[in-house]
Amino acid sequence: MLFLTLISLFGFILTIQTSDLQKYVDLIDLNNDGKLFKDEIFIFLNKFYEEIQDPISITSSGSMKIQENILYNIIKRYNRNSSADYLILSDFENLFVDLYSLQNQKPTFLFNGLEPEQVHLSYTHDIYTEMYISFVTREKPSSNLRPIIKYCDKQCIAIGDTTTYNVDDWHYWIHFIYIKGLEPGAEYNYKLGFIDSDNITIKHLFSNEKWTFKTMPPVERQQKEIVYIYGDMGTIMPLGFEVMKSIIKDFNRDKNEQPNYVVHVGDIAYAGTGHAEEVQTIWDLFMNQIAPISSQIPYMTATGNHEKYYNYTSYKTRFFMPSKTNPTSFETDGNFFFSLETNFVQWIFLSTEHDYSNGSSQRTFLENILQQYERKWQNKERPWLILVGHRPMYSSDQATDSGRLQQELEPLIIKYGVDLAVWGHMHCYERTTPVKYNNFTDRDHFSSDGKIYQHNATNFNQTSPIHLTIGTAGAWIHENWIPTPEWSQTRYQKYGFGKLYIHNTTHLEFKSILSNRTASDEEDYFMIIRQF
Ligand SMILES: [Fe+2]
Repeated sequence: MLFLTLISLFGFILTIQTSDLQKYVDLIDLNNDGKLFKDEIFIFLNKFYEEIQDPISITSSGSMKIQENILYNIIKRYNRNSSADYLILSDFENLFVDLYSLQNQKPTFLFNGLEPEQVHLSYTHDIYTEMYISFVTREKPSSNLRPIIKYCDKQCIAIGDTTTYNVDDWHYWIHFIYIKGLEPGAEYNYKLGFIDSDNITIKHLFSNEKWTFKTMPPVERQQKEIVYIYGDMGTIMPLGFEVMKSIIKDFNRDKNEQPNYVVHVGDIAYAGTGHAEEVQTIWDLFMNQIAPISSQIPYMTATGNHEKYYNYTSYKTRFFMPSKTNPTSFETDGNFFFSLETNFVQWIFLSTEHDYSNGSSQRTFLENILQQYERKWQNKERPWLILVGHRPMYSSDQATDSGRLQQELEPLIIKYGVDLAVWGHMHCYERTTPVKYNNFTDRDHFSSDGKIYQHNATNFNQTSPIHLTIGTAGAWIHENWIPTPEWSQTRYQKYGFGKLYIHNTTHLEFKSILSNRTASDEEDYFMIIRQF
């Protein structure tokens, strides 16, 4: 008996030894000595960002200095043994313990069997009475079992389905559940598990005190809508993990300031290696990194270039955007382009990685949704119109490829009076003035300190879009600026995320939040005020 106990204990230790974190360390550890030195991390990061083909930005001395500083800071910050100049597995495990302890949750590398992990919510087209939830288990449930969410003590159970995908020998299981018939503006505690084929007998049920979600209240009961918004995150290397930690701290700081949902503007996990491969372990680490937030508020995503591997298989299977759960007639292609209508915002999510030229299905979708918006403008019922995509239409990063987007889509967003366009891809923060066709416009309504755009436009021609690039959520920063264009109001290269406050139909406020702010740093802020 003792012998068997020892064997199972040994097996348990072995399980830990081959955790996702161990696999991740092995990816970086070139000489297999268990220690990750600066050079190894540098090679690893360049491998993952290889698609950025900009020799000047990679080799310039200013850029090299930034990179060395970042690596030095990563090792210093993540290292429990402050005298060592390398990282080891237990440093990584401690990161997860720290992150999860912020939410009183259990760290990822101990998940086993049918225990739900990577829990994430998303909105459907009905933000008031529906919700989508997905989670992963390491083991396949037996064929008589289906995943469930139990969201009240009585009969509130929704039953879902299970899938997986066959890439990079990945063998975990994704469970997804469409929840309907919820109360608007209600908060639900939920449990996740599995039900037998009689649809009555619950075989497994897991709970967590932080597993809650809220439906959107009706507009008359909505005080303000708050959104986390950022792009280009990735996981432990270099700093996606760190930025997520600062997001969770922000989330817990003040319940009244908690966002309703997240918008991630593409380049999500950075699981790709710049070539044909994609490492699924990185997806798993990332999904567990965001779970403390994504298990409480919907996590809405746009597609970036780093999701492209195996024809976007991981992205398409792991996320459930409204276009997938219950598409409108113009949303024809899974998670790639879709609309999301909330109380104060008409969001349009585009994929800059797919065809948007005249006659494409994405272009038809965009034109259709903008035309609907035109009617709302005429009726003075317009919500805020916010466009989201990955590659920026305006950027003064010298590596940008904005030309085609401007040529193809700028006339449309000007024609229909887009208020704000939010992008990522460039690993920097940049905010424009009101801008049209590379010109700083509407100067009379833009405050001299560049913080407030106040206009009383009553038709499309009287207003101009503001563009925001916010690819600062953790991915490797090694950008170079061109001389400041007239339309570039504020720009910097620091890690952080954005928080959007939509107070009502007349006041929209934005704050950039740096994850490691120093005394000399100024976080950006702006407001759009409009009257009808
Ligand atoms: Fe990108």
